[in-house]
Amino acid sequence: MQLINLGKSDLKVSPIAMGTMSLKGGSTKLNANILHEAYDLGINYFDTADLYERGQNETMLGQALSSQRDQVIYATKVGNQWRSEGNAWDWKASGPYIIKTVESSLTRLKTDYIDLYQLHGGMIEDPIEEIIDAFERLVESGKIRYYGLSSIRPNVIATYAERSNIVSVMMQYNLLDRRAEAVFPLLAKRNIGVVSRGALTQGMLIDKTIDSYLQLTSGEVALANRNVDRLADNLGVGKMTILLAYVLKHSAISAAALGIRTLSQLDDLKTAMDELSKMSFLDREDLHKGLRKLEYTDHLHS
Ligand SMILES: NC(=O)c1ccc[n+]([C@@H]2O[C@H](COP(=O)([O-])OP(=O)(O)OC[C@H]3O[C@@H](n4cnc5c(N)ncnc54)[C@H](OP(=O)(O)O)[C@@H]3O)[C@@H](O)[C@H]2O)c1
Repeated sequence: MQLINLGKSDLKVSPIAMGTMSLKGGSTKLNANILHEAYDLGINYFDTADLYERGQNETMLGQALSSQRDQVIYATKVGNQWRSEGNAWDWKASGPYIIKTVESSLTRLKTDYIDLYQLHGGMIEDPIEEIIDAFERLVESGKIRYYGLSSIRPNVIATYAERSNIVSVMMQYNLLDRRAEAVFPLLAKRNIGVVSRGALTQGMLIDKTIDSYLQLTSGEVALANRNVDRLADNLGVGKMTILLAYVLKHSAISAAALGIRTLSQLDDLKTAMDELSKMSFLDREDLHKGLRKLEYTDHLHS
């Protein structure tokens, strides 16, 4: 897989990233196999968060890929703190919290630097200047190489895009949820990379039971599913290939973090990657036929 620069950064990432949130249970043999096989497929970009599995997900990644550390890009996230009783977490974004918490992520990831440290959410009411200053200090000290944002709030995205040196924004983007398109021009103008999450629609447009999705009814999702089916049949490729092409062939998208959970899903991904490399064009209009486009309605104003 050809590596690309993520936004204006020097990070050379595979456009297909391994989102590790679906890998439950920590450092199991199966999870390690999945991570190694993903790496062997040419994936060098691994996305995790201190939140996932209360840090065990970072530990799993750091353990599995320690021998490949120089070859891989670790993207993790900060800003949520588990409650002591362990069944919920609170938003906790402040300069001191970020400066302190990075140490735990570094330890769990078994590394002395994080390639991409992302604010895991963000609210317009946060102490944004203090948060930006904390990320800048971590860059200066070499503990992180770059920082980014994971948010779907247009006002938060616009504020960080204007005031900080974020190199990427991770946000949900797929055939059913195209709301992120509203911020693509702003991010492109500032050379900030867009990392899609949810490209596989959690499997719903592949093989899972059709259900409602955001404001879309199950009937509307079923229509999208038929559109994907029809195009996949016409092109002689799998449905996963269509979903991946939909995201990765959009000029605004740098990479897609996929939640692969099993070795068989990784096999499907391998097939999809082969098919994708032979696909020169995707008829997006055909996929949009009859499908309502959702728009952001909240968090619009600074
Ligand atoms: N706020 C944030 O920062 C945030 C939020 C969400 C996600 N993320 C990141 O983005 C990554 C991806 O997000 P996501 O997991 O929500 O989206 P996703 O990639 O659309 O969905 C992952 C799910 O898709 C299903 N799947 C995978 N391969 C499949 C296949 N070949 N056939 C059928 N189903 C398949 C699996 O469901 P089953 O488990 O049911 O098999 C898997 O758990 C995460 O791992 C995480 O790194 C970040």
